[in-house]
Amino acid sequence: MPGVVLVGAQWGDEGKGKITDLIANDFDYVVRYQGGNNAGHTVIHGGHKLALHLIPSGIMYPSITPMIGNGCVVDPRVLLEEIDTLEAEGISTEKLLISGNAHVIMPYHLDLDGASERRLGNNLIGTTHRGIGPAYQDKASRMGIRIQDLFDEHIFRAKLEAALLEKNDILEKVYGLPTYTVDQICETYLPYAERINPHVCECSQTLNAALDDHKWILFEGAQGTLLDIDHGTYPFVTSSSCTAGGATVGTGVGPKTIDKVLGIAKAYITRVGSGPFPTELSDEAGDTLTQVGQEFGTTTGRQRRSGWYDAVIVRYAVAVNGLTDLCITKLDVLSALDTIKVCVAYECDGQIYKTVPASQTVFHHVKPIYEELPGWKTNITHCRSFSDLPHEAKDYIDFLEDLAGIPVSIIAVGPDRNQTIMRRWKTR
Ligand code: GDP
Ligand code: IMO
Ligand code: MG
Repeated sequence: MPGVVLVGAQWGDEGKGKITDLIANDFDYVVRYQGGNNAGHTVIHGGHKLALHLIPSGIMYPSITPMIGNGCVVDPRVLLEEIDTLEAEGISTEKLLISGNAHVIMPYHLDLDGASERRLGNNLIGTTHRGIGPAYQDKASRMGIRIQDLFDEHIFRAKLEAALLEKNDILEKVYGLPTYTVDQICETYLPYAERINPHVCECSQTLNAALDDHKWILFEGAQGTLLDIDHGTYPFVTSSSCTAGGATVGTGVGPKTIDKVLGIAKAYITRVGSGPFPTELSDEAGDTLTQVGQEFGTTTGRQRRSGWYDAVIVRYAVAVNGLTDLCITKLDVLSALDTIKVCVAYECDGQIYKTVPASQTVFHHVKPIYEELPGWKTNITHCRSFSDLPHEAKDYIDFLEDLAGIPVSIIAVGPDRNQTIMRRWKTR
């Protein structure tokens, strides 16, 4: 079946935006299935960087229908700003579709995200403060407001009133924050509704009809496997299903639709926010990765934590997502280093772990076991085929491939769309 899921194999920011943009041309639909504007996907358009937070990275191609699926949470203000930015860049957003079942991020979600982080103090998650967790919380507790509710003022007001009964109490009594009135929120949100209305669709029906018509669908994951609410390093995760399974739940297509699952991993690894990170570096090599890799958050501007490639985590991503192919990005960043380490297993209390330990407590205490490989210390950003790479870089990729147990089908050697080695990837 003509469905491909593209998913982050680490803690996010693996370069999903670039690779989506790269392979999108093979597809008719590019669909976001989870998350919201906590994502920051960078694509290079007309020589300059464009950060997409909500709109799928396939938007650059006029032939593609981009869609925001039911599994996403949508901040209407951010959505409309993103539409305006793209239009100003000469990129049409006319074909953009948004599921009427996607949940809406409300102003109180933003307040509660910030307030609960402040209350956690040193134990904070380090969220993006975009209201993501509180919006999914309301979805699960059946107090959420969906995109379709915006178009029926009576329903919108009734749902808002019910939500504010609780939210205002929490805002005021728990956090000492200002409260909201229904009128106040309607004043800002109802005009949003007018602009969003032409884009609204029934996501599952639209995609299933497209599949019947033999159209090709790319499901663009946000965040990464280790940030998944079920399979990530809980509680230091986001609040949605970032893994491949989320693609079916978050759009309403059946699992048999998915033909391939492409995992994206950096040639090293980064993480933004709190939580365990076995291969994290706090030395010169870490600084090099941060500076050369420009590891600063696309959404929040925070400096990302950097570390050596962790093969245990990628193997876990292979299993959890059923990855069929791996794409290694930012290989060019490693050109700055004399030698490169790869974590092949963990050790904790004399025990060796070749897979992610089932106990989170153990995971917090594991020490990485490294193998060291020689660097290549030469610019590889011009390489366009595997044979162009220096033999040390080829050996590095072959080593990662052996450890992952699946083919490394794409290698990225720079941020531009064309700075890519298409080794084995074939969409169709
Ligand atoms: P995403 O969230 O997974 O889409 O990744 P981000 O866009 O947040 O972060 C990846 C960053 O790395 C962006 O600035 C990309 O332009 C950049 N990038 C992607 N692939 C490569 C690559 O192969 N080499 C280099 N140097 N930069 C890359
Ligand atoms: P992309 O799609 C990296 C992290 C946050 C925080 C945790 C929870 O660009 O890869 P949230 O605001 O989602 O409740 O924050 O998840 N996080 C990301 N880290 N890349 C992302 O997205 C992220 N989206 C959320 O830093 O640790
Ligand atoms: Mg990002």
